[in-house]
Amino acid sequence: MIAAENISIGRGVTLALRCTMCHGARGMSKANTPNLAGQNPERIHKQLSDFQARHRGSEIMAPHTRSLSDQDMRDLLAYYAYLPRTTPPTLGSN
Ligand code: HEC
Repeated sequence: MIAAENISIGRGVTLALRCTMCHGARGMSKANTPNLAGQNPERIHKQLSDFQARHRGSEIMAPHTRSLSDQDMRDLLAYYAYLPRTTPPTLGSN
């Protein structure tokens, strides 16, 4: 992995702190929220841009994308793509 990518993932970890309450600590959600871990980065970027531009309507997600710069989105997707896709945690476990 190249250094720039590592920096991006590092920034993504910090940015993702505001996403964890719904998408899970490591991108796998206990609630009925899409799992982001291991998702295709291009796809995540498209979804985030679409929420921001209101091309994809979501009252829940739109406010969370409002303040994200393009670089923020790239850092977030670098982080989520890097996370392993695991078995979703079940309610009651961690
Ligand atoms: C309050 C809960 C909540 C927070 C906080 C939140 N999300 Fe979401 N997110 C959702 C829900 C619910 C959906 C499904 C929305 C829909 O399809 O209407 C979603 C959908 C998404 C999707 C699309 C996934 C897919 O497979 O199509 C992405 C990407 C995403 N969120 C990223 C983020 C990121 C990055 C953050 C932090 C900046 C974040 N979310 C914060 C609840 C949340």
